[in-house]
Amino acid sequence: MNDFTFYSPTKFVFGRGYVDRTGAELKSCGFSKVLLAYGQGSVVRSGVLARVRESLEAAGVSYVEKGGVRPNPEVEWVREAIALARAEQVDGVLAVGGGSVIDAAKATAFGVPYDGDVWDIFDKRAAIGGCLPIAVVLTIPAAGSEGSGSCVISNDAENRKVGTSGDVFRPRLAVMDPELTFTLPAYQTVAGVTDMIAHICERYFSGVGAVPVTDNIATGLVNALMEATPRVLENPEDYDARATIMWAGMLAHNDVAGCGRSLNPATRAGGWESHGLEHEVSAHHPEVTHGAGLAVVMPAWMRYVWREDPQRFLDFAEAVFGIEPVDDEFAPREEAVEDAVTTAIDELQAFFRDSGMPATLADFGLTPDDVDPMLATLEKNKGKTFGAFKTLDMDDARAIYESCF
Ligand code: NZQ
Ligand code: ZN
Repeated sequence: MNDFTFYSPTKFVFGRGYVDRTGAELKSCGFSKVLLAYGQGSVVRSGVLARVRESLEAAGVSYVEKGGVRPNPEVEWVREAIALARAEQVDGVLAVGGGSVIDAAKATAFGVPYDGDVWDIFDKRAAIGGCLPIAVVLTIPAAGSEGSGSCVISNDAENRKVGTSGDVFRPRLAVMDPELTFTLPAYQTVAGVTDMIAHICERYFSGVGAVPVTDNIATGLVNALMEATPRVLENPEDYDARATIMWAGMLAHNDVAGCGRSLNPATRAGGWESHGLEHEVSAHHPEVTHGAGLAVVMPAWMRYVWREDPQRFLDFAEAVFGIEPVDDEFAPREEAVEDAVTTAIDELQAFFRDSGMPATLADFGLTPDDVDPMLATLEKNKGKTFGAFKTLDMDDARAIYESCF
């Protein structure tokens, strides 16, 4: 087990009807006036926004609202929010939504004390200084941003989507009410589950061998997600299955599933290869849902790299799918291993596809001509090589993208 630091400062308040506690919880955490951020209308239609407003008013927490965050949030919204937060002198930011709203809120929170343009921070031309405290009412379990030290923002003018990390903007408070997710469409639900499984796999295939305590958490989460997903597709109001998915999404990304698995104890476990490859897809094609992009890219990455450490993939195959290599005189060990690993990757991709996810980049309307522009920005964001399980250069990235058609 490699050295690590685990830091998860968020107060998680989890339960049925708990959205109505938002104001009181904010108050107890010291918020007195917040910028209330939300997305493109789901929380208006579902009545969640009205319930949040009511609870803020009941608790005496003032607020100023700004809606309209789009999926794959754009930096221009953040710039406007920073101006509003400064003008209104808020002392915190409250995100009511999913990863896109939370990330837009995080960028606003660390953009307020920064004198220059907030994009400088994503472009690595400036470091994060201060940050307003952040609170979340989660409406879609997926990105895990409610507990993570990550923030991902798009810049359409530059065709880029860039993440930044830091403990300073991990949320102070996250209200998690599984009933809020009953209204999620099947596609968004499964895209969220796919994203969670990817967060687990990025850490599991981190270039470090077995770490049993962490690996059992990781594969246990994958198993719980794969068991709960068909239940919510069958009955979107299955509370226990929705609750399982919501809590698993947080655990998948607050780093508990990566402790001891990092090659560098100062950073998060994993090379985040699938995320790096997917972020270019949704940067150039913002209509692509992040998790749906991962459903295509991650199995392709796995097929490309597994030979680097077959045992790691065999451990995953056994813990998640109960697949073990069968070697005898007719199937030598090498063939049996290949068979077991590729069967496990096939099973994972079949789970995504059978739950409604796309299987190829062509399913999003992309063509092989779309690969070159994605490689150009990938190199800008990642450098000439990236990855931890296997170091990838731009030729490798091209081969992986091309295998997605
Ligand atoms: O905008 P509204 O109208 O609210 O609709 C949203 C949106 O269209 C809808 N939705 C949310 N809650 C709903 C609902 N619809 C019905 N009922 C509800 N209860 O769902 C759609 C997707 O929302 P979004 O916030 O975009 O989803 P997600 O949580 O998957 O976030 C994706 C973003 O997070 C980034 C992704 O790259 C992407 O930009 N990520 C952030 C991470 C982090 N900060 O730690 C890590 C991830 O790897 C990821 O990169
Ligand atoms: Zn993700």
